[in-house]
Amino acid sequence: MSVTRFLTGITPSGTPHLGNYAGMIRPAIKASRDPGVESYYFLADYHALIKAHDPERVHRSTLEIAASWLAAGLDPAQVTFYRQSALPEVTELTWFLTCVTGKGMLNRAHAYKASQDKNTEAGRDIDDGVTAGLFMYPVLMAADILIFNAHKVPVGRDQIQHIEMARDIASSFNHLYGEHFTLPEAAIEENVATIAGLDGRKMSKSYDNTIPLFTPRDQLKKLVGSIVTDSRAPGEPKEVEGSALFQLYQAFATPEQTESMRRAYADGISWGDAKQALFECIDAEITPMRAHYDDLMANPEKVEAALQIGEERARAKSHPFVQTLREAVGLRSLRAGAGNKKAAKEAKVALPNFKQYREANGKFYFKFVAADGKLLMQSVGFTAPKEAGQAIGQLQKDADSLAALASQVTLAEGVSLADVQAALEALRNAA
Ligand code: TRP
Repeated sequence: MSVTRFLTGITPSGTPHLGNYAGMIRPAIKASRDPGVESYYFLADYHALIKAHDPERVHRSTLEIAASWLAAGLDPAQVTFYRQSALPEVTELTWFLTCVTGKGMLNRAHAYKASQDKNTEAGRDIDDGVTAGLFMYPVLMAADILIFNAHKVPVGRDQIQHIEMARDIASSFNHLYGEHFTLPEAAIEENVATIAGLDGRKMSKSYDNTIPLFTPRDQLKKLVGSIVTDSRAPGEPKEVEGSALFQLYQAFATPEQTESMRRAYADGISWGDAKQALFECIDAEITPMRAHYDDLMANPEKVEAALQIGEERARAKSHPFVQTLREAVGLRSLRAGAGNKKAAKEAKVALPNFKQYREANGKFYFKFVAADGKLLMQSVGFTAPKEAGQAIGQLQKDADSLAALASQVTLAEGVSLADVQAALEALRNAA
């Protein structure tokens, strides 16, 4: 079975709002439940440092965003969910990529150019307040994507240029050092609704017109009440076209509910009643999650633990991959006789491995051990060593074999199926 790897980053700046939820969080979580995909969702906290120089804010926002995704139903067993900054390999890869990236290409990046244009307009020096971090933004983002060889990157339209740059950078690297990287593609969700904010413009924190996703219930009611409407009186027919209220309703209601609201508009529903219906609809979806969110915010160690699951799994891939890349660019051991082969063998020391042994009862066993020596899985006793060897062979080759061999192995305590799958895959990727 071939899987498609989806990867996307969320910059932890600010508190998530209903627009983020309906436009990104909800569809991404739904997509992660598709068995044909492997999802990597991460908090782009290195990216956050480019704009935010307030440590408390970065920290707080990281917690809020991670808690929001978990409360909204992200399952850390299904999605590799992690902080970018937990993978030192991302910064290492950023440097490898920096060295094959044309400065001219970065000069043309929209975000960087926009900052320069603003300076020019204001009569300031063209680079006033522009950090090298902003300039390097696209390279760091390319490293995020390429470290897991993602196929598809769900992003907004404003990010398409960054994905194109990632392809460009990957091609340059491949050309110089061999085919290490898959060329990623942007996945643009065409029919995702834009969510209107309180003033009718797109809901966005830059317009200060948002409804925070997990705002308390009474506050939610108040905010819904403050959505702009026109001055039509109860009984007067109303337009759904251009109605922020209707747009929001549509994002949370079933198609049937939406249709009857459309009719109610034509029939002259009062704005008060329409707002009440909208409040109930949002509340029905958000309230069950809010309790989970509040619990996570009150117990941040639960969020930390959830992220660490993803980070361990992510590093089981990023670490061996960057070892391979170090080799490829010529950063190798100098020990006598250490040519390609020897060094490649050393790189493999950092991989998970199988250990076969015989017990006093005469039976043959194997263990599957993580790169750091931790026990992941243990086999039953086989009567012949060949049987154990065959099982190992299958596990090394075939991604579906773990399910087929379920009765012959047991997971070690505290180890999840996903951990074992990830370790097996790291092994297969390195073969
Ligand atoms: N630049 C993205 C945004 O602002 C966030 C991001 C960082 C990202 N790294 C990524 C998105 C990698 C997709 C893939 O929305």
